Amino acid sequence: MNEDRDGRGRNLVIYGAWRYAHVVAETAGMRGWNVAGFVDPDPPDGLNTLTEFPADSAAIVAIGDNGLRAFVYDQLLKGGRTLVSILHPTALVSPSATVGDGCYLAEYAVIRANSSVAAGTLLNSGAVVSHDCHVGPFVTFGPNAATGGYVSIGERTLLGVGASVRPHCSIGSGCRIGAGAAVVGDVQDEMTVINVPAKPLNHNLRTDKQSDWGANRIW
Ligand SMILES: CC(C)(COP(=O)(O)OP(=O)(O)OC[C@H]1O[C@@H](n2cnc3c(N)ncnc32)[C@H](O)[C@@H]1OP(=O)(O)O)[C@@H](O)C(=O)NCCC(=O)NCCS
Repeated sequence: MNEDRDGRGRNLVIYGAWRYAHVVAETAGMRGWNVAGFVDPDPPDGLNTLTEFPADSAAIVAIGDNGLRAFVYDQLLKGGRTLVSILHPTALVSPSATVGDGCYLAEYAVIRANSSVAAGTLLNSGAVVSHDCHVGPFVTFGPNAATGGYVSIGERTLLGVGASVRPHCSIGSGCRIGAGAAVVGDVQDEMTVINVPAKPLNHNLRTDKQSDWGANRIW
């Protein structure tokens, strides 16, 4: 893992310029990084973004949408950039756990023994990945979302605020686990589940407005 236990004044470029990006910037500052600036083709009004990638800088992608985060991460890797993980000083990672590059761990996030968390994954405050779990790339755990042991979670899956997952369950890729849901069985790819115990939600998806990263020129 390119981990930020110690930024030591090195430059960090943050991809994304909205809410989550500012949370990451704050933590990066606590870790001794110099936040060189933000890159976003569609930043909030009044926020100046970078016009070029500063030399000798590392990068992290701070975009909440899992699919978009994966896309931007991939472009940066292709461009040869170094992606780092930023861990809040209160986050705890077992010495026997692994964390991929470009992850963000917020306040009191925990990864327990023998677990792996792949690249670009976001653990919000108080999220718990229990022991012997495998969490795929570009997953988001909302605040206080938690798994029991021996859980696997596929890529780009979202666990909403306070969602819980019974030990030994397997959740596929591209799933959405509703806020407060309790998963007590396996969840197939691309499914949305809600409630306690979690059941499928079948309806047309709404999509939020996203920046047009196809228009971005700074990689
Ligand atoms: C489950 C979820 C993904 C569905 O989102 P969506 O597809 O936009 O669904 P909608 O908001 O249109 O809701 C559809 C229906 O499900 C209900 N619903 C939505 N989320 C629910 C939840 N978590 N628990 C129970 N019911 C829920 C809504 O009330 C609505 O019911 P209705 O049709 O009777 O009015 C979303 O509501 C959710 O819980 N996301 C988690 C977000 C989160 O915690 N993110 C953390 C990031 S830091």
